[in-house]
Parts: sequence; structure tokens; C-alpha cells
Amino acid sequence: MTNTNLVADLKKAVGKAAAERIKSNTIVGLGTGSTTVFAIQHLGERLKSGNLKNIVGIPTSFQSENLARECGIPLTTLNAVDHIDVAIDGADEVDPQKNLIKGGGAAHTQEKLVDSFAEYFIVVVDSSKVVEKLGSSFLLPVEVIPKAMKPVMLHLQKLGGKPEIRNAVKKDGPIITDQGNLVLDVKFDSLDNPEELEKTINNIPGVLNNGLFVGLADLVIVGELKDGQIVVREF
Ligand code: 5RP
Repeated sequence: MTNTNLVADLKKAVGKAAAERIKSNTIVGLGTGSTTVFAIQHLGERLKSGNLKNIVGIPTSFQSENLARECGIPLTTLNAVDHIDVAIDGADEVDPQKNLIKGGGAAHTQEKLVDSFAEYFIVVVDSSKVVEKLGSSFLLPVEVIPKAMKPVMLHLQKLGGKPEIRNAVKKDGPIITDQGNLVLDVKFDSLDNPEELEKTINNIPGVLNNGLFVGLADLVIVGELKDGQIVVREF
């Protein structure tokens, strides 16, 4: 098995495990990314087979909206509901306290809206995402309105960060989020107080939201390889 295939298989295992936890007659938050894809596909399969009935999804991006439609999952919007039962979403880093860095797909603003509104938030990751300390390997994404790019960069530098504008692939220039904004990826030498930093960055005028998700996750499902077998563990 190549490493790429292994990672895809780990993602598939956790995506399916999360989708198996969804009960009939519920409102489900649908996260973004290559791991959540497997959860959405499995939800669609369960609906088609009759094993799951009457769920409605709330997507967190164009990606999850389009995929959910293709999979036959009925959709609604945040403004049309008074609660979300469960959200399933991926992450770029997870620490032992279940705090996260998200935004690898630049969808963290809508993801935080949906994941924080959910009564139960399930995170699905392969084992490479589990770290002792946030910021170990992944830069912190910050969504910024385009006009505020320079002042926000200067503000982040004052906080000790090294911000870089995220560039697009197959488009010249920066990536544009689903909301029409830019993303700064910020390197912090040490991310000692994620709870405080999440609030401080979100307080900078021009910032929509940052990728720190502190105290939101209820369950983390991790896919890993043990003795040559794919296993799924929870914490
Ligand atoms: C998108 C996200 C994703 O959930 C995160 O990047 C994980 O993605 P993947 O499952 O593809 O590794 O936060 O903004």
C-alpha cells in the first residue's frame, strides 16, 4: 500500500465511523475536506439503503454542499433551524485537549459557525494530525477581508506571528474564500495559549475568523495503522 493510499484508507475508516453514529431524524453539520468527504458519502449510502431516514444536512462550504447534493442528502441552512444535533468535520491538527487548528481548505469561518452550533461535534482525522501542541506543524489560517490585509498583517506581526498570504493553485494570486475574502497563514514560534490567541486574533478589525477551535470538539475519531491493520480509536 502506498502512503497516499494508506492515508486515504485511514480517512475513509474514520469518515465512515463518524457517519455510522448519525441517527435518523437529526440535523447534521457537514464539514469540509478530504476526510469529511467519506463521511458525507457514507451518509448518502445509508440514506439510499434505508438504514438512515429523515436527516437534513447543513454544509460548511461549496464543496460539502455540492457533494451532499450528489449523495442525495437533503440540505437546509443555519438560518432555517434552531439547533444542529451533530456536526462531523476534519482538522489539520488536534491536541490532547481536543483543541484544533482548522482551515487547511480555507473553510474555517463557516465550519466554526456550524461546528460551534452543534450539540455534539465529532472530529475525524488520520493519526498524522494528532500533535502534542498546536502549531507544531501547521500554520494558523486567518480569514481577512481583502481591504484589511495590510493592517491585519501588521497586527499579527505585533502579536509575534509571521503571516503569509495563501496563494491559489491553478489561479494566479491569492485564494479567495467562499465568502470572497483572503487567507493569511501565520507562523507562531510558540502557540502557548490557544484560547487567548483565538479571541485576540478574532478581535483584530478586518479578521473574520481564525482556525483555532478551542473547547469545541466533543469526540475525536482517529484512524491509525497498528500491527499492519487500520484501527479506529476515539478520545
Ligand atoms: C477545511 C478544514 C478541513 O477540515 C481540514 O483542512 C482537514 O482536511 P482534510 O480532511 O482534507 O485533511 O479545516 O477548512
